[in-house]
Amino acid sequence: MDVELNLNGEHLHAELEPHELLLDVLRDRFRLTGAKRSCDVQVCGACTVLVDGEPVSACSYLAVDARGHELMTIEGFAQTEEFAEFEAAFSRHAALQCGFCTPGMLLTLKALRDAGELATEEDIRHGLEGNLCRCTGYGSILVAARELAGAVEEQDQ
Ligand code: FES
Ligand code: FES
Repeated sequence: MDVELNLNGEHLHAELEPHELLLDVLRDRFRLTGAKRSCDVQVCGACTVLVDGEPVSACSYLAVDARGHELMTIEGFAQTEEFAEFEAAFSRHAALQCGFCTPGMLLTLKALRDAGELATEEDIRHGLEGNLCRCTGYGSILVAARELAGAVEEQDQ
């Protein structure tokens, strides 16, 4: 079926099968490879994208269900002024190593902050429960997230 998608602010059409997963459509049709496939069962957060500002696991979300909603991938977020702040915080605190989890982490943190749910360390830990990282040990991610939450002054680092 022909489905119109609102993807990173663009209205695009795609011929979709009802069973196609959003992750496959983003990666294979639109070559948006920032969302990663890892666990494939909605556990790791590597495939996170935003649907109407809410983080969802694209590995478990039917692409046709995105019709009528606003989709944002890391590629779209990277075009915004806000992204520079996130990039700087992650870079300053070495909050990534291989980077595989990073797009999902950044989008989840953006959603949390937009929702006002990034105020405390407990918020951050709770909010990132669905985003797994094999490399960093999480400490540096928490520090970067606290900075994005406004809880860490740059000069304290
Ligand atoms: S690949 Fe989707 S949650 Fe892990
Ligand atoms: S930086 Fe490698 S998985 Fe998180």
